[in-house]
Parts: sequence; structure tokens; C-alpha cells
Amino acid sequence: MSGFVDLHCHWIWGIDDGARTADEGAEILRRLGAIGFSKVIATPHMRPGMFDNEQAGLTAAFEAARAALPAEGLPELDLSSEHYFDDLVYERITSGQGVPYPGARAVLLEFYDQDFPNSLLHRFFDLRRRRRLLPVIAHPERYRPIWSDPDKLERMIEGGAAALLDTAALVGKYGQRPQRCAEELLERGLYHAACSDAHRPADVDEVAAGIEVIRKRYGDEEIDTLFRQGPAQILRGRVHV
Ligand SMILES: [Fe+2]
Repeated sequence: MSGFVDLHCHWIWGIDDGARTADEGAEILRRLGAIGFSKVIATPHMRPGMFDNEQAGLTAAFEAARAALPAEGLPELDLSSEHYFDDLVYERITSGQGVPYPGARAVLLEFYDQDFPNSLLHRFFDLRRRRRLLPVIAHPERYRPIWSDPDKLERMIEGGAAALLDTAALVGKYGQRPQRCAEELLERGLYHAACSDAHRPADVDEVAAGIEVIRKRYGDEEIDTLFRQGPAQILRGRVHV
């Protein structure tokens, strides 16, 4: 298998809870390459108060890390960020201080896992209207409001967002509830793409196991949708055609 695109990965070392060393970062990328990923987009955290990364620092960290990696044998690399969707980060995104996906047609967002803000759908609308950005929901299977009511994710998608599966959820990496939720969302066809969200080399083994779960249950066509076509559509900002 090849040609997979990873839209969510923490291989850049030393700036958040992702890879801790250059060796770990390189090993994550090597392992992702070995299981079929041809392109990996780094998405270090932008989460004020926890990971105080901003646009300029992330760009500098990415360039420095890339320069320190072996020149060959790794997937193609690019940079974005996992934006924690609080008021400050929302303001940054709408004022051009975020780090959208390459091409600036989509932006990766994560949320407080207990509750969604009331303003969410308005803000999604705003992102699409004012910034022409597709909101991409990171690991919807980890959010409690979606465990009890998966229709909530459907409404977010109808509101113009895309949903990105953390593949390792399918093998229980985050516990039973997220696993069951991921299975249900997958069965309902609500995911537009799937990713690694790898923070350590060993995480890639669980991603590989999750890919096998999808392949066994839904076949190669679903693998193609979630790991090739879906990511390509998200990068074009056009999942709702
Ligand atoms: Fe992440």
C-alpha cells in the first residue's frame, strides 16, 4: 500500500507532547512510510496555556526539524497545526494567525472533550464564509457529547465541517467508549478521512492495526477513501460537493 496522506501527526519533536527527540520524530515518519503513508502533515498543538505555540514558532520549528532529518527514505512533509478551538485560537484563525493545511483551504480543530460551545456552528459558518476554510474536526470519537448523541457530529458536518478519524481508536487506544463511538461513526459513513495522530513511534503500530480493522470490515475501497481520496478532498477544502 502507498499513497496515503496523514493529516494529523505529532512527529515534530520538543514543542508539545509529540515526539521527544529527533530520533523519535524520524522513527515515527519511517514507520508511517512503511505502512503506506507517502505524505505526512505535521500538526503540532496550538493550545494557549498548555502548548503556547504560535504561527511563526511552528514554522521555524518545522523548518529546523525537517533540516535535521535524513534527506531520503521518508514521506513527503508539510506543516499545519492542531488548533484548540477556544476564543483566542478562533480569533487567530480568523485573523490569519493560524496554521491551516497547505493551500489554506482547511483547518484542523480540536475541542474540549466534555462539551461543545454554543457558538460552534456559527463559528464554522464564519470560517467558511470569512476565511474560506473547511473546519476539520479532530478525533470526534473522543468527545463525550458525541458518545451519547452521534447525530451531533452529523449536524456539525451538515454545518460545513469534515470529520477525521484517529485510526488507533478502532483498536481501543483511548478506551472502550471512543472505540465503540469510532465503530458507529465509521458504520454511519460520517468520516471523511482517517489519520495517525501519532505522538510516539509505537503509536504507528496501533494505526497499522486500525487500518487492518477497516480493511477487514469494509475492504480496500474504504481504505482508499479514508487514506487517499478523503485527505485529498480535505486539502482542496471540498468534501461537500
Ligand atoms: Fe493530535
